[in-house]
Amino acid sequence: MPTREDAWKIVCEFTQSESLRKHMLAVETCVRAYARKNGADENTWGLAALLHDFDYERWPNADHAADREHPAEGAKILRERGYSEEIIRAILSHADYCNVPRQSPLEHTLFACDELAGFLVACTLVRPSKSILDLEASSVKKRMKDKAFARGVSREDVIKGTSPSASPPSAKTPTPSASAAPCSGRLQGER
Ligand SMILES: [Fe+2]
Repeated sequence: MPTREDAWKIVCEFTQSESLRKHMLAVETCVRAYARKNGADENTWGLAALLHDFDYERWPNADHAADREHPAEGAKILRERGYSEEIIRAILSHADYCNVPRQSPLEHTLFACDELAGFLVACTLVRPSKSILDLEASSVKKRMKDKAFARGVSREDVIKGTSPSASPPSAKTPTPSASAAPCSGRLQGER
């Protein structure tokens, strides 16, 4: 199994955008936290999260093709480089247009955290301290209800990913944020 260092090299090889690299790191941090909380394999979950958008800059997939560009192209590369099908499937399932239904806890968590990570950054930046260390969960929940705050983040996708009864993507009508921008959890203007 490739190491985290190997995965980070792939991220840096394919992604030059600092904000996109930061997005992948932020999602990794969130997903690792949930792996620890759930007693899951943190390394597997962390690698899936760190790599979930590594091919997005090079193959942005404006047409939302299921079998080419992001994340299908990345899946091929990861397979060649020895990543597990568990990781590859989780990455494919985070893009609704790939029609890979989210089934495992990792797949649901990755989908939710893709949106949630950017939202946490937005919540942090409006605090006087600008530090995530004193950001309370209650404050995040309050901001979730404020529809004008960080509008680019799909509340529906966060809730869908965190709910145990989350529906597979095939059962949902794609929303603009979910279908047009696999990385919509990034703050508006970031890319
Ligand atoms: Fe993403």
